[in-house]
Amino acid sequence: MRPVRTVTNRKNRMKLIPNTFKARIIASVMLLHTILIGIVIVDISYVQINSTKKHIRETANTLVATIAANAPSWLISNDLNALSELISTAKKANMVNNIYIMDRFGVIKASTDTNSLFKIMDDNISLVLSASIKNNKQQIVLLEHDNVVDTISSIKVGTDTVGYVRVIIDNSATKAELNRIYKNGLFYIFIAIFIGGLLAYLAIKSMLTQMEKLSAAAIKISEGNEDVKIETTKNDNEVNRLAIVFAKMVSSLKEKINQSAIQQEQLKIQANELEELNKNLKALVETETNRRIEQEHMLLQQNKLAALGEMIGAIAHQWRQPLNSLGLSIQDISYAKQFNELDDNYIDKFQKDSMNTIKRLSSTIDDFRNFFKPNKEKKEFFIEDVIASTINIVEAQFKNNFIKIEFDKTPKYRFFGFEGELGQVILNILSNAKDAINNSKNKDNGVVKISTTDNKSHVVIEISDNGGGIPPNVIERIFEPYYSTKEQGKGVGIGLYMSKEIVERHMNGTITAHNNDEGAVFRVELPKTSTN
Ligand SMILES: Nc1ncnc2c1ncn2[C@@H]1O[C@H](COP(=O)(O)OP(=O)(O)O)[C@@H](O)[C@H]1O
Ligand SMILES: [Mg+2]
Repeated sequence: MRPVRTVTNRKNRMKLIPNTFKARIIASVMLLHTILIGIVIVDISYVQINSTKKHIRETANTLVATIAANAPSWLISNDLNALSELISTAKKANMVNNIYIMDRFGVIKASTDTNSLFKIMDDNISLVLSASIKNNKQQIVLLEHDNVVDTISSIKVGTDTVGYVRVIIDNSATKAELNRIYKNGLFYIFIAIFIGGLLAYLAIKSMLTQMEKLSAAAIKISEGNEDVKIETTKNDNEVNRLAIVFAKMVSSLKEKINQSAIQQEQLKIQANELEELNKNLKALVETETNRRIEQEHMLLQQNKLAALGEMIGAIAHQWRQPLNSLGLSIQDISYAKQFNELDDNYIDKFQKDSMNTIKRLSSTIDDFRNFFKPNKEKKEFFIEDVIASTINIVEAQFKNNFIKIEFDKTPKYRFFGFEGELGQVILNILSNAKDAINNSKNKDNGVVKISTTDNKSHVVIEISDNGGGIPPNVIERIFEPYYSTKEQGKGVGIGLYMSKEIVERHMNGTITAHNNDEGAVFRVELPKTSTN
């Protein structure tokens, strides 16, 4: 309930004086005028009333004293004419209503009011008088208020009272005059209020007009119409200063709006460009991706070819010895015939030996086929088994090149994945070692050492050779595709690239290379499986 009431109250108050500067200033000026003039008039009237009172009293006193001083001899001699003369002189000189001169019995001997002549002063007054005489007071004021003084005094000769004098002054005329002054004052107050309001209005009119224009402009600006002109004058007043500041503000606002419009335009252009770029980028990415895929595909093909090359090389070495022995057996047939040894026994033995050799050749082919056969499923295997079967493939070739392989093939560490992939990696490293040894001073006593160890989290395969190592300027790049230092036909530079891809992407491991005193060391780290 209460807040509602407060709101209504405020509304009512606002209605009394509109909540504008103009109304407030004019109202304040008017109020100030009213208060000031009111104070002045009240002050003047107060002073006027007081001084009038004082003046009447003094006049009465002087009159009474003068008459009391002049009257005794005429009273004693009962010279009524002289007394009357005295009174009329006194009345002329002052604004007196009535003057009475009485003898000591209270009979009026002279008066401005001829009707009262020879009458006796009324009882009340004589009572008061006798009291005053007891108190030894000569003059007594019977009545005194704003405009009337009624005073009486004994007339004495020595200490004897010979009569009385009474003076009544009624100053009502002055009061009427004062009232007129009051009324005039009130009228002047209204005039002053009106003129003050008008002057205040005129004084603030131009300022307020300017202010109203400013506020109108501000409203327009707030409505989004920034083409507003702010009028300023040459006057150096607060409103004009405000207008100047406001004009500056508006112009800077305009500038900012323009700038932001330009910026928006630029942004739009940029967004368009970006979109265009995006489209192009998409196309570019697509082409690049396609190119990548193609390249990858090509790399894979080349890797297969390289592996095939390796395999044929290895088969050639593996087959050399059995083919030689088969050749020798065949040659021996003609000698046997010459020396008549070609009997059933001979043929039987020849057949048996030849078939054995052919079986060996065939089994070699099977070995190779198995080694290069792509695995269909991941499975758990011993790392050492894969290394051993890889060694088996290249053994003959290495022997022919006088290279020894040192490896403890006891199964120790397991891995879950494709065996064939790890075999490829080992084969690549081994065939690089063979190439390095063949090109080095250790050509005739090459050694390749293979070890499997582990640390906390990984199984570590290290393959080191004594082929002199990787040249320092080359070592950074050996895992890049197509990077090879070998002459054409001997290397295409994808062996280590493919090995890195296999180890990192398929086996979640790492492959690194460094040199030791004798040659290169390749280190393959594979994450341990739970069974290790
Ligand atoms: N054991 C090693 N000793 C010295 N250099 C090596 C060895 N293994 C690899 N490299 C260097 O790394 C290069 C890249 O090897 P690879 O990717 O297998 O390609 P490629 O054998 O076809 O040259 C080789 O050309 C050779 O310069
Ligand atoms: Mg290679």
